[in-house]
Amino acid sequence: MKKVCSLLILTIVFLNTSLSQVIDNENLTVTHGPWLQNLDANGVTILWTTNKPAVPGINITGPDGKTRFVRNSHDGIVDGGGMLHRVRVEGLEPGSIYKYSIHSVQIMRYQAYKIYYGDTLSRKAETFTTPALISGVVSFLVVNDVHNNSGKMSSYFQKGIAGEKDFCFFNGDMVDFLQSPDELFTGFLDSAVTYFASKKPFYYVRGNHETRGYKAREIKNYFDYKAGKYYYGFDFGPVHFTVLDCGEDKPDNNKNYFGLADYDSYRAEELEWLKKEVKSEAFRNAKKRIVIIHMPIVKEEKQNNGMKYLSDNFGPLLQAAGVNLMISAHTHRNTFYEAGKSGFNYPLLVNSNNSFVEVIADEKEIHAVVKDVTGKQLAEYFIK
Ligand SMILES: [Fe+2]
Repeated sequence: MKKVCSLLILTIVFLNTSLSQVIDNENLTVTHGPWLQNLDANGVTILWTTNKPAVPGINITGPDGKTRFVRNSHDGIVDGGGMLHRVRVEGLEPGSIYKYSIHSVQIMRYQAYKIYYGDTLSRKAETFTTPALISGVVSFLVVNDVHNNSGKMSSYFQKGIAGEKDFCFFNGDMVDFLQSPDELFTGFLDSAVTYFASKKPFYYVRGNHETRGYKAREIKNYFDYKAGKYYYGFDFGPVHFTVLDCGEDKPDNNKNYFGLADYDSYRAEELEWLKKEVKSEAFRNAKKRIVIIHMPIVKEEKQNNGMKYLSDNFGPLLQAAGVNLMISAHTHRNTFYEAGKSGFNYPLLVNSNNSFVEVIADEKEIHAVVKDVTGKQLAEYFIK
């Protein structure tokens, strides 16, 4: 009797396994996104994920009403086959409204000489606006140190303010660590998509916590960093933005890194790039210069390894270059250092983990308002 039961159970398990391999009732769905990256006057990168391998494309309609279908390819091979999708759309007109919808074609089986396609899925259209070539103003939002608490962030986003800005900076420590890409989605990205990220771009600035966990090596797959680096410069309206990567806070040989940290040499490499950045025409000719970095570059007596290196090396360079404002995070406290009070000649706004910064900048002034999660104003700064 015992033998018969075992045989019966084995048969059921085998049948279930075989059937599940043949019958797949799960439709192709978009699991996350879309979110916009690297939106400039002539192009945009759009990312999303599906529950099954697919070939991604974008239907995009310009102000002339004409629709074109865009797929990317590399080395002659059309991008596709994965579940994380990224399509770069080029050839856009500055200062124009575009309508787009993401398009995914499921790959059921991919053989060398036969590819079986499944569902085709087109999502509802979204819109975005390319920035104008010449603009006298830029508005943006800064959010940091969310540490996976997307609910708190959503409460603030519910006010709808993000959709009114040109873009958003996520200034680091949005997650505690990255052991799985799911932490990105549940930590902040799904909320960002819900409230604005399908229509407005964001810049994901790496904090020290984003360096932790096995999947920290794969962050760049989910976003679109200029030249593939976490540090870069870009222009928007009258402002040149210099985005910096602080690295880890503790010494590379700290026991918590288990021998896998190499931030001293990384920051030295970044410093060499920064020396070129501050000499660049874009930086020098800008009406205003704003530096975004997770760990504040400030002179203090007691500093850990990462902040001390930044203070000793990046600070004097930025001081000599003429920076109008630095916006930082990391300390979980709201602090504003007037020019000179940080030990350097630039004003420094450090945003806490419970507040949000709304900035409007034109040629004459940078206006920064710090608000709490309810939208109540906590502080206001006018930087000439
Ligand atoms: Fe931090």
